[in-house]
Amino acid sequence: MLMRPDPGCRPSRAWFVAATFTLLLLIILKPLSDTNLAALSRVVEVTTPSPEPPTPDPNSPNLQPPSQSWSRDQLHKAMSFLYWEYKAPNDWLGCTPRTYFFPRINTIFTGIPKSGCTNWLLALLTAEGHIKHEVDPADIAWVHSAGYTDPFRVRSEFGGANLDTSALDKAFSFAVVRNPWTRLVSAFRQKLSSEETQGGTFRAMGYDIVREMRGITDPDVLLYTYPTFREYAGYLINREGMINEINRHFAPQTNELCIPYALYDMVVPIEHSAALSQEVWNKINVSETSLFGSYDKVSDPRLQSSALYAKKWLAGLDTEMVEELYRIYKGDFLLMNYSNFTHPDFPLPLHSP
Ligand SMILES: *[C@@H]1O[C@H](CO)[C@@H](O)[C@H](O)[C@H]1NC(C)=O
Ligand SMILES: *[C@@H]1O[C@H](CO)[C@@H](O)[C@H](O)[C@H]1NC(C)=O
Ligand SMILES: *[C@@H]1O[C@H](CO)[C@@H](O)[C@H](O)[C@H]1NC(C)=O
Repeated sequence: MLMRPDPGCRPSRAWFVAATFTLLLLIILKPLSDTNLAALSRVVEVTTPSPEPPTPDPNSPNLQPPSQSWSRDQLHKAMSFLYWEYKAPNDWLGCTPRTYFFPRINTIFTGIPKSGCTNWLLALLTAEGHIKHEVDPADIAWVHSAGYTDPFRVRSEFGGANLDTSALDKAFSFAVVRNPWTRLVSAFRQKLSSEETQGGTFRAMGYDIVREMRGITDPDVLLYTYPTFREYAGYLINREGMINEINRHFAPQTNELCIPYALYDMVVPIEHSAALSQEVWNKINVSETSLFGSYDKVSDPRLQSSALYAKKWLAGLDTEMVEELYRIYKGDFLLMNYSNFTHPDFPLPLHSP
């Protein structure tokens, strides 16, 4: 009867375990004074993850877009961090291929990959009169197809016209930037993950990451293997300083902006583009504002899926990895004093104390 493995055995074993545990706990805690106990409970409190993230403050002043003079100051901070110095006048011919000039609407725009550049390019091409038909927002890949936007690139060696620089001097100029954490997550989801709606369009890079981080070389296995966010982060860290060469979707935004050669009239944080795009159109003197709207139906950027994914995935990385990524994209953080993923106002620019 004693040998029978009936459920009756379990309580006694559980009781034994509980008793041993309590005893051990008493032995450990006994020498602790009251102050030590208080300290211990504080440690426990801090390391226990809270089940629900704090609800963002609906009245946070960071929900308002930053002023342009504040943004300009930040741009200078980012440049001085990079040891770059702006010298007037603007020299737009120093830009990368992603700076465009639209002569009819008299506007210069720098489109940074993964910072809303496709939507803006479409809207600007429409305002310029280059796109005359209705465009299905789901089918916009052709905007980037060879030759379509080339005539508008500022530099002639990238396809643009040989420009009279005095036209550039008189133009309105702007660029759109994004919180580096959400940009990093968005690039991963769109280019490398297995998410169906997003699509792993950079499969070759995906294979490369899995090969390097997981040691898988069998092509048949690789075919069905996608990198994790953590592997992607490690791969980028291994390539610090040469991310530009892998792919511009992952490269720092400071490399794509036309700084320090030129200063923009406006720098728009994508998190506030709903409020600021109207201001951009006013500056361009275009009344019709056919931007396709936000990528996300949730209007508070702090609750959009890119922010929620970023919080979750970045919290899963080691502190050292987070520090290294932060270092790689430090200039981009400075561009708008961008919040960390642990901040309640993440991913907004922090412009109020
Ligand atoms: C819009 O109109 C104003 C006033 O006529 C002018 O000063 C400004 O240069 C125009 N903007 C552009 C981008 O042409
Ligand atoms: C943001 O997080 C990084 C990485 O943990 C840290 O190095 C940095 O100091 C933080 N920045 C701010 C403004 O809190
Ligand atoms: C940048 O953000 C921090 C909070 O992380 C804030 O204390 C500081 O005042 C902000 N800087 C500027 C120039 O607004």
